[in-house]
Amino acid sequence: MNVKYSDSKLQSLPFMNVNLDLDERVEDLLSRLTLAEKFKLSSGKLMWHTKPIRRLGVKSFTMYDGPHGVRPDAMGEIKSTYFPSVICRASTWDSKLSYEFGKSVAEEVREVGAHMLLAPGINIQRTPMNGRTFEYQSEDPYLNKVLAVATVKGIQSQKVAACVKHYICNNQETNRLTVNSEVSERALQEIYYPAFKATVQEADAWSFMTCYNKVNGIYGSENYNLLREILMKKWGFRGFTVSDWNATAYTNTAECVKAGLSLEMPTAKKYSKKNMKNSFNEKKFTIDEINENIRRLLRVMFLVGLFDDEETLPKGSRNTPEHQELARNIAEDGIVLLKNKGGLLPLNIENVKKIAVIGPNKNFRLGGDILSGGGSSVNYPPYEITPLEGLRDKCKNKVEIIEDPSIADITVIFAGLNHNHGMDSEGEDKEEFGLPLEQVKLIKETTQKNSNTIVVLISGSPIEMEDWIELVPSVVEAWYGGMEAGTAIANVLFGDVNPSGKLTMTFPRKLSDSPAHSSKRSYPGNDKVFYDEGIFVGYRHFDTKNIDPLFPFGHGLSYTNFTYENLTINKEKMREDDTIKVSVGITNTGKIMGKEVVQLYIQDVESSIERPPKELKGFKKISLKSGQMETVVFELNKDDLSFYNPIENSWVVEKGKFKILIGSSSRDIRLEGKLEYS
Ligand code: GLC
Repeated sequence: MNVKYSDSKLQSLPFMNVNLDLDERVEDLLSRLTLAEKFKLSSGKLMWHTKPIRRLGVKSFTMYDGPHGVRPDAMGEIKSTYFPSVICRASTWDSKLSYEFGKSVAEEVREVGAHMLLAPGINIQRTPMNGRTFEYQSEDPYLNKVLAVATVKGIQSQKVAACVKHYICNNQETNRLTVNSEVSERALQEIYYPAFKATVQEADAWSFMTCYNKVNGIYGSENYNLLREILMKKWGFRGFTVSDWNATAYTNTAECVKAGLSLEMPTAKKYSKKNMKNSFNEKKFTIDEINENIRRLLRVMFLVGLFDDEETLPKGSRNTPEHQELARNIAEDGIVLLKNKGGLLPLNIENVKKIAVIGPNKNFRLGGDILSGGGSSVNYPPYEITPLEGLRDKCKNKVEIIEDPSIADITVIFAGLNHNHGMDSEGEDKEEFGLPLEQVKLIKETTQKNSNTIVVLISGSPIEMEDWIELVPSVVEAWYGGMEAGTAIANVLFGDVNPSGKLTMTFPRKLSDSPAHSSKRSYPGNDKVFYDEGIFVGYRHFDTKNIDPLFPFGHGLSYTNFTYENLTINKEKMREDDTIKVSVGITNTGKIMGKEVVQLYIQDVESSIERPPKELKGFKKISLKSGQMETVVFELNKDDLSFYNPIENSWVVEKGKFKILIGSSSRDIRLEGKLEYS
């Protein structure tokens, strides 16, 4: 009914009553919306907003990018904290930092008056050539899941909706708008679904973004099986789905409605008034189907407090010292010490007199706009500390910074990639797997002049290093470390911070070693890309094929050393409902404090279908003073031993022997235990 309400009358309606049950408020408002108003709510306006329904006091719901910081405007006038790239944050292996990131970035979303952050992006890292590798977390489903859940919980702690993206199998940028990802059910279940599913079942994600690509032949925005069947019915998702921007371009109006797409962004195309009216009048979708889609959107509008007194909502904060300190802490803990032969690092500021600082990324800054900033993940910080500025600040009055390696005690080469065309950038994949040739040349020339050369990589994805890695005693992966990157890098190079980052992706020696790169059809494909590797993504492939990676999943060195002892498993045999406790003693045997990521993998020794030699099922990051020992305890249940059986179409645990592998990386297994599932 198209009733006009006075303000006072509006305030008295049930859906405006904050003391009423959420679902009752939703149903009351839904019942008052006309069909035309439901169609109006189904699509966006002005890029980042839904349309208000003034008659009923429904305000515009606002959503902004992105995964590294909030970006309320394309011109960069509104500054915000530029947190480290997602792959850097993931490399901390610290879910508390991911939670704190989510909370802090949501405080900035609140402060700019928005209701949803278009993040986290949690697509599995299937190929190191993906242009958006810097925006995603890991090749491993368990690590991806734990960090995704923490991030969503952090964001939503501020009554800001997280928007989990891009659902699903959007694992490359090549042909992203139309490519059809052909994926087996087992690979979906064991590799691609877990993190998305966990954000629903463990973090109650309030929104999902549907992907551009097709999945097994059907576009993400009109994929009934993925949305209504899996996401909503099987997983119990109660939030709403929003299309990626223009991701409905090749879809059908009624198919999207029936599949469960609540909101088309950025503007009405398939969900235009005309298309909706015609499809509805032609009975291509029902009132119940449109109601269900709108119900979900309204529910999240209530959850973020769109109808509540602003005074009762979290205030938010932006560009605070706390957020900037968090950005630095994440960068420091995400930095991975890849190589340190001869212990050139950490540098002793008392002994070093001259440091040559060279390389194209010594002045790395985030680009000033979406195109040069890596795409939609860009935001605009109030300041950035470049690697050179960070070193200058650290070395002032103590160490001279020069540019000539031949007269320096130490040389630091800031190499790596950037967000320009063909590198780490949305909308296209990387063109080369290695460093630009001029950088390789610079490294070779520099090591001739100074054997004490350190390469610090500013990048967002694995690269080939075969041409130069043997020439360089120390290599540090510093990622795109956000606005405080320069300070974080200097703190690690001089040992104020002991590096503790671990790789969340395998670094292959050569691209053809990578599982997605067995053929053109498996990458980049053409209109179809075939996930022929199935579940054997990342280290699962390298282990199964016995391929030696350049740096393995889970790898990262420290300035101290840790011993692993006294592995105990509280039961030799696990029954169906048992929880097994696995404990291990970790000691810091070095002279300085350090953090270690203790990793637990399982191996199914005998299985009816092929399984990977090891699968990550637990990790703990601990901080130990010199000489300190801590006992780390993991708990395992049958789900941790299970695999998806495509013949039975269900998860199964087969009776028999398992190995419990505890290590400092997937290829540095320190202790091994046995377990029998009976
Ligand atoms: C982009 C991205 C998505 C982003 C959205 C809005 O194309 O794929 O991650 O949130 O559009 O900018």
